[in-house]
Amino acid sequence: MSIISGKNILLGISAGIAAYKTASLVRLFIKSGANVKVVMTPASKEFITPLTLSTLSKNPVFSSFVNEEDDNAVWNNHVDLGLWADLFVVAPATANTLSKMANGVCDNLFLATYLSAKCPVYFAPAMDLDMYKHPTTKASFEKLKSFGNVMIPATSGELASGLIGEGRMAEPEDIVSFIENDILDKLPLKGKNILITAGPTYEAIDPVRFIGNHSSGKMGFEIARAAANLGAQVFLVTGPTHQKTTHSLIKVLPVTSAEEMYAQAHKHYKDVDVAILSAAVADYRPKEVALDKIKKKDAALTLELEKTKDILASLGDIKTDQYLVGFALETNNEIENAKDKLKRKNLNLIVLNSLNDKGAGFKGDTNKVTFIDSEENITEYQLKSKAEVAVDLLNKIIEQINA
Ligand code: CTP
Repeated sequence: MSIISGKNILLGISAGIAAYKTASLVRLFIKSGANVKVVMTPASKEFITPLTLSTLSKNPVFSSFVNEEDDNAVWNNHVDLGLWADLFVVAPATANTLSKMANGVCDNLFLATYLSAKCPVYFAPAMDLDMYKHPTTKASFEKLKSFGNVMIPATSGELASGLIGEGRMAEPEDIVSFIENDILDKLPLKGKNILITAGPTYEAIDPVRFIGNHSSGKMGFEIARAAANLGAQVFLVTGPTHQKTTHSLIKVLPVTSAEEMYAQAHKHYKDVDVAILSAAVADYRPKEVALDKIKKKDAALTLELEKTKDILASLGDIKTDQYLVGFALETNNEIENAKDKLKRKNLNLIVLNSLNDKGAGFKGDTNKVTFIDSEENITEYQLKSKAEVAVDLLNKIIEQINA
């Protein structure tokens, strides 16, 4: 799945011959799963029709402050357009439009939208080679870059003038991959490896029975998704669950028992920057596992149980530079018990779920959590979806590891 999937892309087209290529560019954005709206300079309509772009983008195309042909003229709100956009991509970016952008000129809807947009801006210059090299054009590039706008460099080749040199707009495929790579490179967890445990564990009694619990694995999978969406490489060690993920940055490592989860967690721990242990690991397991199915010949059956290894505590014991996060599900004296667990298991952060909170815990789609860090700072959150809790947790971790 492309990193631009689901993003709102505002394509700004200015009047260069490369505008004809924006039909392909819109198609590629749409194919990548983005939502596309187009804002054009009036002159660019000479190079490609709004109808083409509106058909491909499945949205109206804007070029003026009011729709002239409409008797009940409606104002095209540049502020709304700017706020709608997650990304503003200017392609082709002519010398004229770049110069206006660099100097705050605002004499058309496109430029007013540029000034209103708060999102990242990319610009793909397209012009003749001497214009591209001109000091005033170079000054525009530098000024726009100093605003944080990102330049997608032009390439060399045959130009509309017949001259050969630098100034050709990057090809639509290259514009899309440039933007994708740029976003990926800037993700806050790019280059970080994260270990996550999720789901229940099953402890065998005999070949057909086990001791388990009702954990759905949802919380752990949401944390894995949120971490991967922020650029981390995730090792997701999961007990038996119906949850699925196909994210390319999540390596799913299925296990059944606490012992297997312990082994997988230890295998990856030394290579990770962050470990988040959200699994509901069975605390006890049958001391002996019957080789054959146990027959119900007696009126009662007694199973002797022994403790499983505490994975979280064992990782706390050997911790070097890892940021270690544990979960605590408490019913009474919650904050004190969680603080105690944080210290005992040598954690950096503990996520407290209180069973007294409605909507928190194992099975549902929501959770209500409190974070306690190693300095005992307490942050309490409202009831939220597990996906939102996952994002809160990762934002907290990013804030702490960058502090
Ligand atoms: N955990 C673990 N391995 C275990 C048991 C728990 O890694 N064998 C982890 C869970 O993934 C979770 C945290 O420890 O992050 C939860 O601990 P919990 O079972 O609530 O606490 P305990 O320390 O076992 O204390 P108690 O049962 O007394 O509440």
